Amino acid sequence: MTMQTPTGNPAPLPGGLPDPAQLARLANAFFRAPPGGVAAPEVVTGSGAVGGVPSALPAAAPVLASLSNPAPAGSPLAGPAGTGTGVPGLTLPQGRVPGGNLLPGSPTHILSLGNRAPALAPHAAAQNGLPDQAVSVLPALEPRAGGALLGVPQQSGASPYYFLDDTLRAGSPASAHENTRYDAPALGADPRAFGLPTQDDLRGLLSLHRDGFQGAPGIPDAKPAHGSHYVLDEARAAAHPRDQQRDQTHGAPFSAVRAPFDVDAVRRDFPILAERVNGRPLVWLDNAATTHKPRAVIERLAYFYEHENSNIHRAAHTLAGRATDAYEHARETVQRFIGAGSPDEIVFVRGTTEAINLIAKSWGEENVGPGDEIVVSHLEHHANIVPWQQLAARKGATLRVIPVDESGQVQLDECRKLFNERTKIAAVTQVSNALGTVVPVAQIVQMAHAVGAKALVDGAQSISHLRVDVRALDADFFVFSGHKIYGPTGIGVVYGKREVLEAMPPWQGGGNMIADVTFERTLFQPPPARFEAGTGNIADAVGLGAALDYVTRIGIDNIARYEHDLLAYATSVLAPVPGVRLVGTANDKASVLSFVLRGYQTEEVGRALSEEGIAVRSGHHCAQPILRRFGLEATVRPSLAFYNTCDEVDALVSVVRRLAARRG
Ligand code: ALA
Repeated sequence: MTMQTPTGNPAPLPGGLPDPAQLARLANAFFRAPPGGVAAPEVVTGSGAVGGVPSALPAAAPVLASLSNPAPAGSPLAGPAGTGTGVPGLTLPQGRVPGGNLLPGSPTHILSLGNRAPALAPHAAAQNGLPDQAVSVLPALEPRAGGALLGVPQQSGASPYYFLDDTLRAGSPASAHENTRYDAPALGADPRAFGLPTQDDLRGLLSLHRDGFQGAPGIPDAKPAHGSHYVLDEARAAAHPRDQQRDQTHGAPFSAVRAPFDVDAVRRDFPILAERVNGRPLVWLDNAATTHKPRAVIERLAYFYEHENSNIHRAAHTLAGRATDAYEHARETVQRFIGAGSPDEIVFVRGTTEAINLIAKSWGEENVGPGDEIVVSHLEHHANIVPWQQLAARKGATLRVIPVDESGQVQLDECRKLFNERTKIAAVTQVSNALGTVVPVAQIVQMAHAVGAKALVDGAQSISHLRVDVRALDADFFVFSGHKIYGPTGIGVVYGKREVLEAMPPWQGGGNMIADVTFERTLFQPPPARFEAGTGNIADAVGLGAALDYVTRIGIDNIARYEHDLLAYATSVLAPVPGVRLVGTANDKASVLSFVLRGYQTEEVGRALSEEGIAVRSGHHCAQPILRRFGLEATVRPSLAFYNTCDEVDALVSVVRRLAARRG
């Protein structure tokens, strides 16, 4: 549906665009329309469209929603006095009300109001060949309309670069596999006694990943039409001797038909994996600390700085339009990746730590009071303990801690007992950074909701290993860091349910988050801008979008399967080394293989590994409470990603064996 403007259709400029005065009138009408109600006015040019874009504008961002959200009482952002200007001798003009200037009377106001203004009219073609004109109007009114118009390569949806198509995957007992959990084998025990794979089984499975082949003979050729080099063809698959041997030797459980995963091809996407360290090939097993960046991310960052770099949301020039569009496109990418309902539910922050601090300081300050309780688990990273502890101390509230069993899994029965009418929020990690435990967070979210509390899920360690669907999880908040999922450092995400974010006050004040400022009071933008004061990390948000696109092309479920098998293999070869004690042996684990070695300080093991080019973290992993639960101050912590291989695991284990032999 479209709505005619009060003044009728504007006459176009010769270039095919309405002039700024006409735009101002249109924007006035546009912003006066009830948010989310009536469709936007139509911008009509000679051809009925602007810059080749269909003429009906998309629904506007609810820029004026903040008119009903003045600074809360007591907020340092609220002015001390009435509705004056606060400047001696200066009063508001007659007939003007605070915030009235939000209804623009000039093109300048439109642009600052839209906060995301690209150029008004076409310019000379840029030397980089990007289409200047394409973003000339629409993004000023709705920034999320124009990502594809910028000339930035758009990548979306799963592509078959790394895997055969869904027909093959459909033939795979993938779901059965996903439900198959391994147990860390007891020293000296034969895993077959428990119906578990042997080391040979596991290595065979992983070698097949490595060779880029997971299909069984007779699988129809599912090579993608574009002939990607990541996928091997049927002839080679059928002739693969290891596969035939595997089927004859091991039978059904490990002859599962899966989409091929060519880890060597994946590794070629990560330039740093070709580094040599201490004269050896780099073996990066410190993925829980940070992940490496694929070329797609590195190049996207370079592209941003070469073609798009600008501040966003606040200028009327072309690069501001490009940068704004790229940033908002990244927000949509995050939204899709985690299954959020709207990009407005995605707030960019520096990382998980800042994300939890934002929630504790904004939501927590408003909703937690004396005698209230905050539930966390014993597994939490310091980032999901300290902000709640600080809040509890300020408010006279109490932290309640979900205990874990000897395997490192939370005890749900005990957990249930912690919830009551005083519980205000449960904040739990989805995967433990110290032990790798996958926590049944959906059940904890339900327990929180059953007593009317909110639930925050810390996805810092889960986001790169498991499929996340925030709506299925029903979490009120979900937080993660970009650098843990192959994106840049310094960028992270708060997902919050729309109604929860809308009820939260800002936690920082400044530019970008305001709708209008006088010396007496400030009117804030609605989420997400309300929580993004100042100039954010624009380029790295764009880089995060590229990382999520990359992961999507490979497929998070494929990554999860490969990593699951690799962790099973690593567990099976590390656990039997004399003197090794695995710390964290839950049935459901991801990526992490914490251990201590008898006779060694953890730093000694870390140094010995580093001398061989192998990077692991040794120390307390910013999770002292859980290590102390196991009587430890530190562990050695290899952590796997989908670019790691069996050979790398073997290199690690061989150093540990050598150390063990010396002081055994
Ligand atoms: N949180 C990161 C880790 O676990 C730094 O190593």
